[in-house]
Amino acid sequence: MRIDIITVLPEILESPLNYSILKKAREKGLVEIHVHNLRHYSSDKHRRVDDYPFGGQAGMVLQCEPIDRAISSLKEQRDYDEVIYTSPDGETFNQPAANKLSLCRNLIILCGHYKGIDYRIREHLITKEISIGDYVLTGGELAAAIMTDAIVRLIPGAIGDEQSALSDSFQDNLLAPPVYTRPANYKGWEVPEILLSGHEAKIREWELQQSIKRTEKLRPDLL
Ligand code: ADE
Repeated sequence: MRIDIITVLPEILESPLNYSILKKAREKGLVEIHVHNLRHYSSDKHRRVDDYPFGGQAGMVLQCEPIDRAISSLKEQRDYDEVIYTSPDGETFNQPAANKLSLCRNLIILCGHYKGIDYRIREHLITKEISIGDYVLTGGELAAAIMTDAIVRLIPGAIGDEQSALSDSFQDNLLAPPVYTRPANYKGWEVPEILLSGHEAKIREWELQQSIKRTEKLRPDLL
């Protein structure tokens, strides 16, 4: 899989995409992630990529030309399954969306900034608008990092234990059960006895019951 991220602030994406599972998935060749600085596609001598909005509102808008040039140059090299724009107006990102996107071969993620991007780009080049939640971020970079993380960990082989991504919260519309590690007794705080019993089937059943209980209590909307 390949993910191309277009942004005016590539620096924000350096760290979140270079640790832990994402780093390992890149090293194993399971995913290529390329971050492109939109300014490199500007034809302006000062590398400007934004301008004042028509109509006199406050704020700045990312211009059509650099975005069009960036997306076109990527599309000349390969086909893309989706050209995603990060925006609070988009469909809300969730686990089913991550599952679906993890099956794609090539994705472009365009990070919004300032007041947004010229609407003509959204009409003509964007195939999907995604929001990570009902709140407004300063830019789309953190949203792109979150989506990339959620997508890449689903690629087979990205997580050592193949089962692990499948048992994440939300994969079956249930929150994950509680987990514990040694010591079994810490300051008198005890690990549930069933987990120390060695009865594999009973433990799985207990975990399922815990998942259901926690989901009923914390996220009844999922049930
Ligand atoms: N850009 C600004 N706010 C955002 C959000 N909630 N989701 C995705 N991109 C955004």
